[in-house]
Amino acid sequence: MESFLIKGGVPLHGEVTISGSKNAALPILAAALLTDEPCVIRHVPDLSDTRFMVKILESLGATARFENGTLTVRAKKIKGFADYKLVRRMRGSICIAGPLLARLRTARISLPGGCIIGARPINLHLKGFAALGAKIKIEGGYVAATAKKLVGNSMFLGGRAGPTVLGTANVMMAATLADGVTVIESAACEPEVVDLAKFLNAMGAQISGAGSPTITITGVKKLHGAEHEVIPDRIETATFAIAAAATNGEVLIQGARAEHLRAVLDKLNEANVAVTRRGADLLVKRKGQLKPADITTLPYAGFPTDVQAQMMSLLALAPGISIITERIFESRFMHVSELARLGADIEIEGPSAIVKGGRPLSGAPVMASDLRASAALVIAGLAAKGTTQVNRIYHLDRGYEKMDAKLRKLGARIQRVEEK
Ligand code: EPU
Repeated sequence: MESFLIKGGVPLHGEVTISGSKNAALPILAAALLTDEPCVIRHVPDLSDTRFMVKILESLGATARFENGTLTVRAKKIKGFADYKLVRRMRGSICIAGPLLARLRTARISLPGGCIIGARPINLHLKGFAALGAKIKIEGGYVAATAKKLVGNSMFLGGRAGPTVLGTANVMMAATLADGVTVIESAACEPEVVDLAKFLNAMGAQISGAGSPTITITGVKKLHGAEHEVIPDRIETATFAIAAAATNGEVLIQGARAEHLRAVLDKLNEANVAVTRRGADLLVKRKGQLKPADITTLPYAGFPTDVQAQMMSLLALAPGISIITERIFESRFMHVSELARLGADIEIEGPSAIVKGGRPLSGAPVMASDLRASAALVIAGLAAKGTTQVNRIYHLDRGYEKMDAKLRKLGARIQRVEEK
């Protein structure tokens, strides 16, 4: 297993280019299953998660070529069965269910199970499929959805923690080939859902309202091949902005979309970090001493749960008390005890973390537990004095394209080494 060895205390300076969004790319790749014609998808980040999604598509019978960020997929003849060995490795693989159900009228997929950040049920995905007329059966760890025909319907997809991102994606994809009109209420409004709808419309689907809580899909008989460019990764953008602020550096972020990051930019401003537009780029620089800020994670356009851990590393450096409340996933505080190993003073109280910021951080060996927690540890390591070894960085490689190389270009002293 590999680790990052970070010699901290160096302010980041320079320019960094943002990759395509992982969470937009995954359902878009799955959407290519909806047609037997070739699809060309550009700006696909080269990550273990996207490569894994390609493997899943191939296991279903599709052919794929991935070159220089462009993926050409053709799902000429496919089967509707994805087994446990594949699905268990990536929870995002559940988004093949909607396309398979739409195209083949049958999908049999291993239940993905929970993960370190929470239970992650799929009841809302299944509620949506059932509303379209699918019969759902759970047996032997697999969920089977079958339908003689799918018929458009109105449904409410809000759950315990609000809307569901992949659930909305899955049901939207299933409804593209249903008879009649489907209306999804309490749909997720994330930019990744909008990007998927854009790709589906380019394939011939009729979707309106994506980006709002009400999405309307008028079913069509057939979808065709299409080309699409994936949006920039807003979570990677936020991660680099926070890393720049944490190290007291100055970084120009290229190829980002500020309009996808309003809540994060607002909280950075409150923490005394200026993010200014320079043409199409974003310049990040502290305005002075960091300040505390209270944060609650919420569905879009609220503060994203995928930036909560990284922001905690930053606020651990801001003198004063910050309260961070996690409202999306029930156990997404695995980074807290690792940050404590670097000297951070953080207490967990129910769904909130109380960050008593401003204590100096010093390097130590730490363990990455999930993707965003790993990013938080890298940020803390970059800001800490001395050497930090972040172990198990395969979590990080799932969602950040060449993070170590990008950080090195900004002057960070970071190396990828074999874990000892
Ligand atoms: N939920 C249900 N029932 C469902 C589905 C979800 O109760 O059927 C609950 C979840 O347990 C959670 C909440 O609804 O409490 C929101 O979960 P959501 O379904 O929106 O999450 P997801 O679609 O499985 C995507 C991203 C996550 C990101 C979340 C929230 C992908 C591949 N994953 O997951 O990304 O945290 O939306 O924004 O798009 C990451 O990139 O690190 C990551 C975990």
